[in-house]
Formats: sequence, C-alpha cells, structure tokens
Amino acid sequence: MAGSENSSLSKPRWLLAELTYSCPLQCPYCSNPLDYARLGHELSTEEWKRVLSEARALGAVQLGLSGGEPLTRRDLAEIVAHARQLGYYTNLITSGYGLDEARIAELKSAGLDHIQVSIQSPEKLLNDKLAGTESFEHKLEVARWVKRHGYPMVLCVVIHRQNIHQMRQILEMAEELGADYLELANTQYYGWALLNRDHLLPTREQFAEAEAIAQAYKEKVKGRMKIYYVVPDYYEDRPKACMNGWGTTFLTIAPDGMALPCHAARELPGLDCPNVRDFNVRDIWYESDAFNRFRGYGWMKEPCRSCPEKEKDFGGCRCQAYLMTGDMTDADPVCSKSPHHHRVAEAIASAQRSLADRPLVFRNPKNSRALSG
Ligand code: FES
Repeated sequence: MAGSENSSLSKPRWLLAELTYSCPLQCPYCSNPLDYARLGHELSTEEWKRVLSEARALGAVQLGLSGGEPLTRRDLAEIVAHARQLGYYTNLITSGYGLDEARIAELKSAGLDHIQVSIQSPEKLLNDKLAGTESFEHKLEVARWVKRHGYPMVLCVVIHRQNIHQMRQILEMAEELGADYLELANTQYYGWALLNRDHLLPTREQFAEAEAIAQAYKEKVKGRMKIYYVVPDYYEDRPKACMNGWGTTFLTIAPDGMALPCHAARELPGLDCPNVRDFNVRDIWYESDAFNRFRGYGWMKEPCRSCPEKEKDFGGCRCQAYLMTGDMTDADPVCSKSPHHHRVAEAIASAQRSLADRPLVFRNPKNSRALSG
C-alpha cells in the first residue's frame, strides 16, 4: 500500500477495538466469527497503544472496547489511560462478568467515560442458561456499582425469540436498576447468531407486540430513561444503511490485529483484510483494497445501481448479502427489490418449524474448533 491520502474520503470516527475473543460467557447470539478459537494471538498492549494512536491521528474520536469480554485483558486500564491521553471518548462494552468495585474504580481513574453492561434476560434461569454461566445476580450488582461510581447506567439486552416474551419484565428491570439508557438490540444474524437463527428469530407478531410494549414504556419513562429500540431488519422491506456506508465511519480492529470495515467482514471471501501488524492504520483506511471495495456506488449492480434510495441505504449490508446469497455484491436480500428477497421469507419460515433435533449451539472454544474443522 502506497500510503497516499485521498482527501475526498471521510475519516473513521468510530474505532471498535475488539481486545480479545476470550469470554467467560457462551451466548448463542454472539456475532464473533465461528472459528474465533483458531485465530492468531492477540495484539499486545504496545500494539494496541500504537493502533489507538494511529487511528486517533486519522480522526477517530469514539473508542469502543469490546470482545469477547474486554475485562479478561489485564491491561485494560492501561489501554484506557492511553486512549484518554489521546482524547478519545471511551466506551467499555461488557457483560459485567468479572467486574468488581475495585476494577471500576481503577478504570475510572484511568479515564474511562462510559460502561455498557449487557444482561441476557430479567429472569435468572434464562439469563444463566443463555450466558452458559451463572451470572445473573452479579450482573445486577455490577449495574448498581456502575451507577454508584458516577457513570450513566447503560443497559443492553439483545432481543430474540428466547426472551422477547419478557419485554415488559426487561423494561421493569431496567427501571428498577435506575438505567439512564436501555438498548433493546434485536439480534442481527452474523456469526453464532446466524448459526442459531432458527432458535432466535421471533415471529412478526412477537416483534410487533414487543415493539408496542417498548414504545408505550418510552412514554412512561420519558425524561428518566432513554430507550433505544434497534429494529429487526428481517421484518423491514428496506435494508439498514450498514456501517453508515462501507469505509466511511467505522473501523474495527479484531483481537489478532485484522482491520475490518465492519465486525463481520472477516467472513467475506477474497476480501483480504489487512493487519495492523503489517500496515499502519492510515494506509489501511485510505489504500487497502478491503476498505475501498464497497466505497461509493461504482461496485453496485442492479437493482441497487439505478435505485433512487441507494444514497440512503448504500445497498444494505455486504455481509448479509454474502451470507444469504453467496455474492457480496448483491443487494441486501432484506430489500423487497432484491431478486433474493424470498430468502428472508424462507429464513422466517424455517425458524417457525420444529427444532426438536437441533439444539442451540453455544459459543465456546470447543464448539468453535469443532465447527472450523
Ligand atoms: Fe458487514 Fe454489514 S455487517 S457490511
């Protein structure tokens, strides 16, 4: 890569640092790659610091620290302190498992701005089943500590068929915990979530009912708790503007240093994503084929090419197009104009059939190794 800057290109604003694939939980809706257990060794503290510095110099201002479970990195506070020094706004995206008050205080003094805690369900039995680990009471405790240490309480619940019937209890739990923000994130089907889609995809009726409950609650808690409802795209007829357009805003660095235009891009065949161990972030952003591949509109074929909405949704999600049609240059099949739109209806129908002989596959190293042969 030559390293010359194209001034017409926007700069990355959001850097998602996936610090590790290691995680004590085993959520079957995880978006990490199926073969994560076989991927190379994690970036060192010094490598992460360099990546953060390079991305900040390029224009990144928001830093998400995620994984896996980022708390498993013992150098987390050191990485946070470096990010703070560079002027990032730092967000820790965590299950809360392994967090205690001493660690929160350590992260606070390192300059961490924001903590988002995820809970699987408002009910212990289901939470612990989905997490594959007994963790419910601890998560509630963590949520209270986060607030006590002066952070806004940001709760995230991933919604799917196993817990969507608990929408009212989820909202009540968030209110009881004094959440300032509640993210209700309908599952997106990548990685383990795609593998388990038949178990996770709710019916249209379930979606409609849950959304109505959440919208009504929004009014009830107005001024006290903000509720973000991430809509499920399988029941839309236009695709999401994934990543706000490829290579425009988001930059993800995987634990092994692979630089990705989105968290799922590793699955796209022939994309040949560059690694921060081999190139600096500026060259990756401006010069790499992977980051340039779906910028703009030149790569599009019909129906996207002549679509008047292409500047709004950018043809949807490249990863979803590949995962559902086998061709990453296709329109996202969520779009009703896509010739492959029927695949979405087939996925919905498949999820309604009997699952007796197909158990949920939990995200853990053993299953990862088995799945990647
Ligand atoms: Fe990769 Fe949408 S998740 S482009």
